[in-house]
Amino acid sequence: MRIVLLGAPGSGKGTQAKKLMDAHNIPQISTGDLLRAAVKAQSELGQRAKAAMDAGELVADDIVIGMIRERLNEADTQNGFILDGFPRSTAQAAALDDMLVELDIPLQKAVLINVEFGNLIKRLTGRRTCSACGQMYNVYFSPPQADGVCDRCGGTDLAHRADDNEETISNRLTVYQEQTEPLVSYYQQQGKLASVEGEGDLDAVFGRISSALAA
Ligand code: AP5
Ligand code: MG
Repeated sequence: MRIVLLGAPGSGKGTQAKKLMDAHNIPQISTGDLLRAAVKAQSELGQRAKAAMDAGELVADDIVIGMIRERLNEADTQNGFILDGFPRSTAQAAALDDMLVELDIPLQKAVLINVEFGNLIKRLTGRRTCSACGQMYNVYFSPPQADGVCDRCGGTDLAHRADDNEETISNRLTVYQEQTEPLVSYYQQQGKLASVEGEGDLDAVFGRISSALAA
């Protein structure tokens, strides 16, 4: 299975990518996660990316396309992959198509997770991520059983993402509408688009994605 998950910030790309990864034993490739790791490591790439991420703008194409090229050349992607948060512009989508043709592993589907814009703010401001194991929570919709403690690993640092503040969120949503939404018609024209309802229970959304992928 070689797919792209498309959707606005907070639509559930990361949440559903992890479920797909567990179900199909293929890697989730998230440019957001790769970039946050680079920022944390204070690598040169991380230093170049940080200002754009803090502002909710897109990081330069050469950085993210380079990162994806490197990652797709790793052996584990031969059995498939789930791209989460890449591509985010038509230039990135065209670069991805070229790369995948070169590697002889063309993309099969782009799944758009549809969530009403008005519902995204609470998802983003309420998101918490365990620094130890990456498990995701939401203080409004899916809090951990014990306040501030990860259900999965017992970690006690449930972190709030730096770009999950209202000002940056508002810019991320605008950037999504202007630069990423055109990919819906890009993949529609290729006959690869599947659109699923992203509201409701996490497992219900997962069921819809699974049906769309099987169709
Ligand atoms: P990135 O990390 O990709 O962030 P994003 O696109 O803004 O998306 P999010 O990760 O915020 O949301 P998500 O859809 O993964 O939702 P999640 O599952 O976490 O990018 C961050 C930044 O990096 C960008 O702004 C940019 O600067 C840079 N960047 C990354 N990729 C780039 C690229 N290709 N080019 C250039 N720059 C790039 O869910 C959110 C919350 O909702 C969670 O709390 C979750 O528990 C909850 N939730 C999920 N599903 C449901 C549900 N069904 N019901 C209720 N709550 C739910
Ligand atoms: Mg994400």
